[in-house]
Amino acid sequence: LADWWINAAYLDCRGPVVVWSSPGLVFPLQEFKTLDDQLNFAAKVIAGTLDYKIMVDEKTVPVERMGKDVLDMSQYFKVLGTCRIPGVTRDTLQFYGQSSDPPKHIVVAHNNHFFKIDVYGKGGKPLSVRQLIQQLRNVVERSTHPTHPIGILTTQNRNVWGKAYKQLRKDKVNRASIEEIHRCIFLVALDGPVVNPTGNEMNDAALNCVHGNGPQGYAGNRWYDKTIQFIVGKKGAVGLTYEHTPAEGPPIANLMDHIMNYINTGKGEEGTEGKENRPPVEELSRPHRLIFNISPTIKQDIEDAKVALESLVSDLEMTCFKFSGFGKSFIKSQKLSPDSFIQMAIQLAFYRIHGEPGAHYESASTRKFIYGRTETIRSCSMQSVAFAQTMLDKEQSAAAKVKSLREAVEAHKNYAKDAVNGLGVDRHLLGLKLSAIEAGMDVPSLFMDVGYLRSSHMRLSTSQVPARCEAFMCFGPLVPDGYGCCYNPRDTEIFFGTSAFNSSPETDSATFRQSLEQSLMDMHNALVQDSLKAKL
Ligand code: COA
Repeated sequence: LADWWINAAYLDCRGPVVVWSSPGLVFPLQEFKTLDDQLNFAAKVIAGTLDYKIMVDEKTVPVERMGKDVLDMSQYFKVLGTCRIPGVTRDTLQFYGQSSDPPKHIVVAHNNHFFKIDVYGKGGKPLSVRQLIQQLRNVVERSTHPTHPIGILTTQNRNVWGKAYKQLRKDKVNRASIEEIHRCIFLVALDGPVVNPTGNEMNDAALNCVHGNGPQGYAGNRWYDKTIQFIVGKKGAVGLTYEHTPAEGPPIANLMDHIMNYINTGKGEEGTEGKENRPPVEELSRPHRLIFNISPTIKQDIEDAKVALESLVSDLEMTCFKFSGFGKSFIKSQKLSPDSFIQMAIQLAFYRIHGEPGAHYESASTRKFIYGRTETIRSCSMQSVAFAQTMLDKEQSAAAKVKSLREAVEAHKNYAKDAVNGLGVDRHLLGLKLSAIEAGMDVPSLFMDVGYLRSSHMRLSTSQVPARCEAFMCFGPLVPDGYGCCYNPRDTEIFFGTSAFNSSPETDSATFRQSLEQSLMDMHNALVQDSLKAKL
């Protein structure tokens, strides 16, 4: 399924990657008072990533396990040095990091200017934090005013971008600049202060990671085709956005955890590198400005991209928060699966708002299999519906609520087990459908069946992306009247990134948050009440 999946889920999709496909990952919030603070942090993010890359290059990233099974680690080797290349009908993916001549540079974006920075000094040693700061400062000093937001073209519908890309590449200078961006190990966007602040720093950071706040914000200061793009804002909103084709969230969150650990343990600080290891300052090659010649056609393409992105940006709303009521430890103490518990809270939250259940997608990892990506856990079940109805019925006792909760959690856990073992239904059906198409047959009528269509209109698109640090991933809904909900469950708290579209009169992420928090607390209270009663 691996190749089929990459095409069907990503490269054949013609909608923009922004909002519709590329998630944001918000790092623990920082506070920068000066440009020095910002550049210092950005330099450490770069140094931390290069430190991580040593494990990738040496293939020593610790192998992950699910229970006693080892997991396929191939995604870890596909994120650095990778880029999605736009096409007119289908995109492609290029893994420059795995070529015989792997890249040795990163690209830094500031005020929509792009600069190439070689990050390995003499003898192939990664530049130190001190040297990286010097290079970043040089970039900032040479890009004080915004230029044409060429990067905004990457936010377009893929067919439109594919055509513009062909045009852009006709110019030799542009072609060379694009090559450098495509080939770089990763990209770092140095942003200004948050544009259009919502009054909530988590939401601001999430929106900035997902769409850069559009043309008025920093969307031109990005290259959304690049797999890894770190974003370091002026005041401390830090995160990344990643192009989803080569990997799922967990390897990306793992990279972030490595970076934060690198920073928090003081690695790369002045003094730790050892004086004798510092190449003299003059040996650094100056960051190389990547030039773009903007023809009138490209100028028009940029204007069109701005208009298209503006409507996407104004449509997306996000509510991100830390739920502090309890975390995994409490749920485990009740002998329940934390993930299934949270999934049931999401079902209940939806039912409370809409008075009916919502088709519900959760990603399950199929990395027990070579090149495995995901299977769908269909979290909406007979048991989840009965549970939501029982919880919302004031006449029901705590014991009845707990009984329905345990049954719903059990049903979800069993489905999740099947899914991670390759026994789900969605990828299997996709395989059959694509086989039919490849064999020149009509698509079987099942795929047009009203029941199939309704059950696949995933009004809840959810995913667990755990991280060791106080971070969270976030993404847009899958359907116009749906919600996106990604969470990082920790021992005593849960981070949530939720989203909805303004254009849907039915959904609102702030209402969803309220209902979700209420659901989690109602479930908690039912369990506590029931166990107290049992003790009496
Ligand atoms: N009683 C006590 N503890 C329990 C329990 C129970 N009944 N059931 C589970 N637990 C424990 C587990 O042993 C585990 O313990 P650990 O923290 O020591 O490892 C912990 O609770 C978490 O387990 P659980 O919440 O059940 O599931 P999970 O963390 O394994 O997650 C999936 C389940 C489906 C999310 C996971 O398997 C998966 O596939 N994740 C990847 C998803 C993905 O790729 N997302 C990204 C898409 S971009």
